[in-house]
Amino acid sequence: MPRAPRDRAEIVLVGRPDLDLENPATFAPVLKSVAPDMVINAAAHTGVDQQEDEPERAFRINAEAPAELARLTRLAGIPIIQISTDYVFDGTSMRPYVEADKPNPQTVYGRSKLAGEEAVRAGNPDHLVVRTAWVVSRYGRNFVKTMLSLAEKHDSLQVVADQFGNPTEAHDLADGLLAAAAVWRRQGGFPQGLYHLAGQGRASWHELAGHVFAVSASLDGPSALVEPVGSEQWPAKAARPANSELSSDAFFSDFGYRAGAWKDRVGALVVELRAGTKD
Ligand SMILES: NC(=O)c1ccc[n+]([C@@H]2O[C@H](COP(=O)([O-])OP(=O)(O)OC[C@H]3O[C@@H](n4cnc5c(N)ncnc54)[C@H](OP(=O)(O)O)[C@@H]3O)[C@@H](O)[C@H]2O)c1
Repeated sequence: MPRAPRDRAEIVLVGRPDLDLENPATFAPVLKSVAPDMVINAAAHTGVDQQEDEPERAFRINAEAPAELARLTRLAGIPIIQISTDYVFDGTSMRPYVEADKPNPQTVYGRSKLAGEEAVRAGNPDHLVVRTAWVVSRYGRNFVKTMLSLAEKHDSLQVVADQFGNPTEAHDLADGLLAAAAVWRRQGGFPQGLYHLAGQGRASWHELAGHVFAVSASLDGPSALVEPVGSEQWPAKAARPANSELSSDAFFSDFGYRAGAWKDRVGALVVELRAGTKD
């Protein structure tokens, strides 16, 4: 279900070619023609491994572009929301990360996204940085859809069991942003500039895959045996954080919104994908 009309908010989606984060000259004309009350920058260079080979492009898209968007929104007198990532952390924490924890990104992606956070903070005092994690939905490419499509061709799959995070349904992130925007409207600003917002509960990729297949099998959908493996068996250019679990308590306390429990939300997503529903 589209979220914004329920909140009486109008969302205008803009992207390439009208607004290209690699071409800052495109920003001002779009801002002028849309004349928004608020800008949410959800676009990014998200190729975590690819970016190890093209750090300049990663920083251009993930840091320099948000810096310019922050500058332009400040000039326009409007707030900016910047979406960021759990990958700003090194993943060595034994407990969920809170906003006060010191980032220590280990990859070009993480460093460029952290630079984007800092640029937005410096460029527009009326800002909100929202770090999320492990986003899944019926749209685009994501882990849940990849698993279901792999299970069409394979009886068993090896899935990493030693990386942990919070699977987050994209609509929950959208609902959270609408809740934050409503608080901004009521109070004329955001209480703080940095929050975490991710699904409730922690999972490994292995647990997540297992749950996807359990629900899918119950609906006579594709399913596969999931063999747990260590990260070392899936060598990647960019090392993923071992534990990037985020605490979303501050977001709940200031905006009154919590994302759903990951098992429920992923289960509902699999049901939705099986039913082939669209809205
Ligand atoms: N997915 C996750 O698990 C996850 C976790 C934590 C944080 N995040 C953050 O959440 C946000 C959305 O991520 P996602 O997973 O939806 O990423 P995605 O599927 O890779 O989508 C990235 C979006 O950015 C747009 N984009 C890329 N380069 C652009 C450019 N030069 N100019 C304009 N638009 C450009 C893409 O547009 P095109 O359609 O034109 O390619 C696409 O719509 C990002 O800020 C990401 O860092 C995601």
